[in-house]
Amino acid sequence: MYFAAPVLCLLWLTKHAVDSARLSAPEVVTGVYGGSVTVSCQYDQKLRNYTKYWCKGLVYEHCEIVVKTPKNRYSERSSITDDKEAGVFTVTMTSLSKSDEGMYWCVISRFGRNNHAGVRLRLSNPGTSSSCWPCDRGKTALVSNVTLAGRMLSYLMSGGY
Ligand SMILES: *[C@@H]1O[C@H](CO)[C@@H](O)[C@H](O)[C@H]1NC(C)=O
Ligand SMILES: *[C@@H]1O[C@H](CO)[C@@H](O)[C@H](O)[C@H]1NC(C)=O
Repeated sequence: MYFAAPVLCLLWLTKHAVDSARLSAPEVVTGVYGGSVTVSCQYDQKLRNYTKYWCKGLVYEHCEIVVKTPKNRYSERSSITDDKEAGVFTVTMTSLSKSDEGMYWCVISRFGRNNHAGVRLRLSNPGTSSSCWPCDRGKTALVSNVTLAGRMLSYLMSGGY
């Protein structure tokens, strides 16, 4: 009785690991504002006949479908193609803007046993290399620190009111 829970847990973990191994995608993709990105989601041949989709949302369970095979393969700026021979479906997003940044999911729809793999989309400014993104962030943090220090100083000098 006492070891039942750990054993179940191990079984669950094993099953989970096996299931997620059937679908893989890059963890992070970086695009530029106004540009486009292509994401490849690779899957096990056994899953070739299921519906594939691309959805957006921080949490997979609450994500919103952007494009889906076979019927809704195109949206205004996105599309999805499924190469069943190769075992890979590919999503393209164009005219990227700030609101496109965030978490997305490659999903294979299997009647309540969906396979999913998370992909984070990041954008960088055209002209700056993607490696320079943290330096931009550093600058922003520094500015807000200085601003904060200035505010605190004037707060103190005004006698705390
Ligand atoms: C997928 O569908 C094709 C055509 O209907 C069929 O021949 C094939 O066996 C199916 N493959 C799998 C893995 O279900
Ligand atoms: C100031 O900047 C440093 C380094 O970026 C950061 O760790 C710290 O939290 C910032 N402090 C404030 C008050 O924003």
